[in-house]
Amino acid sequence: MEDAFIVSAVRTPVGKRNGSLSQFRADDLLGLVLREVVQRVGVDAAEVEDVIGGTVTQVGEQGFTLARMGVLAAGFPDDIPGVSINRQCGSSLTALNFAAAQIVAGWRDCVIACGCELMSKYAIAAEWYNLTLSNGQPAGMPLGPAYFSRTGGKYVDQGQAAELIAQKWGISKEEMDGFAVRSHQRAQRAHTEGRFAREILPVKFKGPDGQEKVLDKDETVRPETSMEALSGLKTVFGTKIVTAGNSSPISDGSSAVLLMSGRKARELGVTPRARVVANAVAGADPVLMLTGPIPATAKVLKKAGLSFNDIDEVEINEAFSPIPLAWGREYNPDWEKVNPNGGAIALGHPVGNSGCRLTVTCLHELERTGGRYGLVTLCTGGGMAPATIIERV
Ligand SMILES: CC(C)(COP(=O)(O)OP(=O)(O)OC[C@H]1O[C@@H](n2cnc3c(N)ncnc32)[C@H](O)[C@@H]1OP(=O)(O)O)[C@@H](O)C(=O)NCCC(=O)NCCS
Repeated sequence: MEDAFIVSAVRTPVGKRNGSLSQFRADDLLGLVLREVVQRVGVDAAEVEDVIGGTVTQVGEQGFTLARMGVLAAGFPDDIPGVSINRQCGSSLTALNFAAAQIVAGWRDCVIACGCELMSKYAIAAEWYNLTLSNGQPAGMPLGPAYFSRTGGKYVDQGQAAELIAQKWGISKEEMDGFAVRSHQRAQRAHTEGRFAREILPVKFKGPDGQEKVLDKDETVRPETSMEALSGLKTVFGTKIVTAGNSSPISDGSSAVLLMSGRKARELGVTPRARVVANAVAGADPVLMLTGPIPATAKVLKKAGLSFNDIDEVEINEAFSPIPLAWGREYNPDWEKVNPNGGAIALGHPVGNSGCRLTVTCLHELERTGGRYGLVTLCTGGGMAPATIIERV
């Protein structure tokens, strides 16, 4: 068996809804990080055997195998392929896990895992909502009798699931809002201290005045966030406690991770930065839906042969405050090691992009702190969660 190493990792800043990245074509935005991730380590793109991309809403510019279109936009040779996969919010972490598995199996030596999502343009469910067949009939909904037989006949959306999770784990609105305030404070500290400088690729874009501008920081961070302001926000998703303040915002972004076998890295003279130690994926209750990181963490630790205390840094996606908080009830973590630079509530959650974004951030934070093991996990629509452990080398 080969080891799979991360040798390069980069992300765009996250753009806010209808913000600086929203006018990009998806393939162009993805093309930027694909080009950058190989250039940063001086690897010829011709070495890349496949590009595995995560995108949730595969429609319009994000349809037709966005990963391949990103390859073309990056200016890679014609013979570099791409594949787009969808495991909801876990899509690009799954892309990374698939890439690592292919390398460990010995079938590939050099693969890019990536993610891209422009939620400003392509709303969640846009690929099926209001879609008609060529004969004009409704295309149908992905949630059918098999789903409803597991949910007591009701549809529970993500925000409602977050509220159910808060109820089940005894998480109050104050605790949710406090977690959100801390996410913004940490993200702001990370920006102020330049902690994201190495992982972010500044992106040039045209402003509304036609002038060229550069986005080099995540646009979603609200440093002024306070308990008082959050307590005044109206609730959403028909819940009593979920608000825009304790939810991840609609956002845009792209990221890429270059993985290699040890033999390929040696052949090309590239220095490995982290080893992919193990990965796992869990299914979870389809009603509570967003609890997957709890079993996924146990599974991936077992596969890695590690205990929770061995982990130096956790990046768990903050789709809504109750997700990391419920996970925390089960694992009782040192919260200084969990999302130390803020999470999706402050940094946004371009759904298909987030798995690679979290991995990029985890790697750079391990390098900044000298930590050894990092754990990345995300909840997903449909009740699943991928998880990955990396080791800085
Ligand atoms: C929660 C959600 C519906 C809110 O959408 P929205 O109402 O368009 O959000 P906005 O950014 O306009 O925020 C609403 C209000 O809250 C305010 N607000 C949001 N975050 C705030 C903060 N941290 N501090 C102070 N005010 C804040 C905004 O300023 C805005 O105020 P306004 O109405 O006076 O302009 C949307 O962000 C969402 O759907 N998030 C979840 C996405 C999702 O499901 N992802 C997948 C997860 S599994």
